[in-house]
Amino acid sequence: MAITFNERTKEFHLFNNEISYIINILKNNQLGNLYFGKKLNERDSFEHFLQTEARALTSCVFEKDGAFSLDIIKQEYPSYGTSDYRNPAYQVKQVNGSSITNFEYKDHSIYKGKNKLQGLPATYVEAEDEGTTLEIHLEDGVINTELVLYYTIFEKYAAIARSARFINKGKEKIQLTTAMSMSLDLPDDDYEMIHLAGAWSRERHVKNRKLETGIQSVYSARGASSANHNPFIALKRPNTDEFKGEVIGFSLVYSGNFLAQVEVDYLATSRVTLGINPSGFTWNLEENEEFQTPEAVMVYSDNGLNKMSQVYHELYRTRLARGYWRDKVRPVLVNNWEATYFDFDEDKILAIAKAAKEIGIEMFVLDDGWFGKRNDDTTSLGDWFVDKRKLPNGITSLAKKIEELDLKFGLWFEPEMVNKISELYENHPDWVISTPNRKDSHGRNQFVLDFSRKEVVDYIYVMMEKILLDAPISYIKWDMNRNITEAFSSALSADKQEEIMHRYILGVYDLYERLTSKFPEVLFESCASGGGRFDPGMLYYAPQAWTSDDTDAVERLKIQYGTSFVYPISSIGSHVSAVPNHQVLRETGIDMRADVAYFGTFGYELDLNKLSDEEKEIVKKQVTFFKENRELIQKGEFYRIVSPFENDGNVTAWAVVSKDKKEAIAAYYKVLNEPNPKRLTLKLTGLESNTKYSVNGSDDYYWGDELMNFGIPVGKLFTGSLDDAHGKIVKDFYSNIFKIKAI
Ligand code: DGJ
Repeated sequence: MAITFNERTKEFHLFNNEISYIINILKNNQLGNLYFGKKLNERDSFEHFLQTEARALTSCVFEKDGAFSLDIIKQEYPSYGTSDYRNPAYQVKQVNGSSITNFEYKDHSIYKGKNKLQGLPATYVEAEDEGTTLEIHLEDGVINTELVLYYTIFEKYAAIARSARFINKGKEKIQLTTAMSMSLDLPDDDYEMIHLAGAWSRERHVKNRKLETGIQSVYSARGASSANHNPFIALKRPNTDEFKGEVIGFSLVYSGNFLAQVEVDYLATSRVTLGINPSGFTWNLEENEEFQTPEAVMVYSDNGLNKMSQVYHELYRTRLARGYWRDKVRPVLVNNWEATYFDFDEDKILAIAKAAKEIGIEMFVLDDGWFGKRNDDTTSLGDWFVDKRKLPNGITSLAKKIEELDLKFGLWFEPEMVNKISELYENHPDWVISTPNRKDSHGRNQFVLDFSRKEVVDYIYVMMEKILLDAPISYIKWDMNRNITEAFSSALSADKQEEIMHRYILGVYDLYERLTSKFPEVLFESCASGGGRFDPGMLYYAPQAWTSDDTDAVERLKIQYGTSFVYPISSIGSHVSAVPNHQVLRETGIDMRADVAYFGTFGYELDLNKLSDEEKEIVKKQVTFFKENRELIQKGEFYRIVSPFENDGNVTAWAVVSKDKKEAIAAYYKVLNEPNPKRLTLKLTGLESNTKYSVNGSDDYYWGDELMNFGIPVGKLFTGSLDDAHGKIVKDFYSNIFKIKAI
């Protein structure tokens, strides 16, 4: 891995064993992009990559040089309004009202390692030789403003992390009205854009569309990354699939409003921009103030989508997630939400916990409803002290009783919210995000606290700290159940009102940082009405996230398949819940529910005392199975094999393979049975061709190449006779798990 700079041709070449990224300083002293893709041999110069043919009707930078137009040249971080008419990477509004700028190359530095981004989540390195960073410093002399572009290339990953920083060194104020984290001009438009779209209860479904001339984008304006769109897109070649072909992923390490956009111009250049959503965003910079954008992570793969995802998984699991729990397998937990909702007392909770212990579960999580006077969702958010009517002995006593059962105890919070019926609201009505003289929109009877204000974050911190200091709490589920409306902070001046959305998220990050530093051994799970803020920013603080409120095994296939495009299996909160399922009323068997939930952090979300004895025995076996295999599941390489978004969506298959390829667990799911179906085989992937494997402890062996090229039969077919209808016969909501072991 290296970053070189050629003094003569003024080219930067960032490369590792897999990728090359080439930037050049253009003759107007701005930055161009020459290449991003598969690794190229280092050579004296890549000058010949600069494509500048004169075109009719372009506006040009230099007199008598019809070929040098910013409209034609592939740029690194394009500006607004000077001969390039596409969407810019940034816009700086000046006191005279103009947004025209000219940031020219000043100098650069290349160093080993990677610096932290102040106040923002970002990937990191643990040893200097894990990454090399390039900082390019540009300057606009008219407004005395510096722009620094950061690039870190990782030694082990086909990934580059980027961000930008603006520093106002002038006397006059400037306003950033756009400040994207990255821009990349690709030379053609022969791509399909993949993104992850959804809604509450069906988050991160995979969408795919061909790029077309014009703009295609996904975004959030909700104050959270959202269930509707994830801060991620990928551009893949039309023939790319899970196993082969080129794809570039773009992922934003951020939890607030974002925009991910591809603009295809008249020359078929595809301009990708990713960063904070410019709509409703303005950031003021007075003299000596600076603004740091969030980080964007670009991943290149010429081995299909699985390879791209595996790079994100490994990078985000080991160099974005942090702390005590990062490398540890996660406890199997039971959460009482769907078991009791708000209707519980200490006895009910202890009864579930006792049953959990007998089954082998390791942690009990008390969900919503333990604080203030909360019997439903109309009151008490913000009053983070125990509801003695339900828990007369307090949280500390309950937590201790649970610990005496030899279980860990976890607790739910929704720190960012307040109900109007609460002591917090009575004392601090102005702490709510709300616009003067305008009606407040409602969402789940709750309002968003103004986390752009430090005193609000301080206050919530103190309340949470007290509970965490008093009780043996090992886990926190940090929920967030509504989006921001009527965005306005009574603490910000008029010109700063469009800073609120970003300031809010910085406040959330600040609270996370303080709590995770003070309580480093507490496992945090982020949540937002399920997966409404499942993004890389959150992963920096909470190594796992509640993936969706939808725990139906069939729906989860799509949700977890889509989530795995970017996010490691160790981050995917997944539980077995009761049937009929509480979100879609479907009845699937307890086997299938577990077979899907294994591919995540695994737990239960039901009243274990309502299980039959037979089911309890099955659940015991499930917990044992997961414990035996969780190291492999959470740290192995995940392969998507059959997509629930393709064909008729009836079949899904995936597998996790250990790094040394000696072990794997593959899963096959078929939603509806069919009469006299086609042969059902599962072709594995990622194994060693010349290794002998056993399947589910069989005495026979199979070569890796057999398992990958011929496959394994996945189930017994029903032949029409009820006498044959025993065992693991294929029927509706069918699943089968295969444990593959090298002999
Ligand atoms: C939404 C979460 O996604 C659920 O798991 C649960 O914690 C509820 N909120 C509680 O209000």
